Amino acid sequence: MQQLTSRRDFANIINERNYKIVVEVGVGNGGFSRYLLESCSGITLFSIDPWEGVDSRPGGKQKTYEKLAKYDTRSKILDLKSVEGSQQFEDLSIDFVYIDSDHSFDAVKQDLACWWPKIKLSGIMAGHDYDLRQSGVIKAVDNWTIEHHQEMGQNRNKRY
Ligand SMILES: C[S@@+](CC[C@H](N)C(=O)[O-])C[C@H]1O[C@@H](n2cnc3c(N)ncnc32)[C@H](O)[C@@H]1O
Repeated sequence: MQQLTSRRDFANIINERNYKIVVEVGVGNGGFSRYLLESCSGITLFSIDPWEGVDSRPGGKQKTYEKLAKYDTRSKILDLKSVEGSQQFEDLSIDFVYIDSDHSFDAVKQDLACWWPKIKLSGIMAGHDYDLRQSGVIKAVDNWTIEHHQEMGQNRNKRY
């Protein structure tokens, strides 16, 4: 995979590969969902967040609905937790998933397990905050890549 300088570079990859079905898990106030919809005109984006519990943002749900309304049928907002959200998809049906939800070890482990089967063989599973040493992200991702014999690409500051 090409070297990324920022997570915004994912938009170029999505466009270059003509990806269509994209998912963001953990949406916050909807800023990155909006960026993806604005930058990638060919995608349908599923934005998944329960907007409650770990790291939830006050008013995040309403802000997300407001930000994404203009994208009409290209934007599907699912008010669900990650695992329940993943159950809405067939196996091998998603081109690109971006995981940025609960960063505890158990939650990341569960996220990787439930989203991986949903990704097409030509797709990408990506996420945020691999640099957060106090979180469970690094350990969960490292364990997963070893168990699944997968390569992980990172940007220079190891964040994405
Ligand atoms: C760091 S914020 C996401 C920021 C967003 N990705 C962005 O770049 O603007 C983390 C989000 O994860 C959500 N979250 C927490 N637990 C979750 C879960 N089990 N499934 C999905 N989302 C979850 C929180 O509600 C919060 O909105």
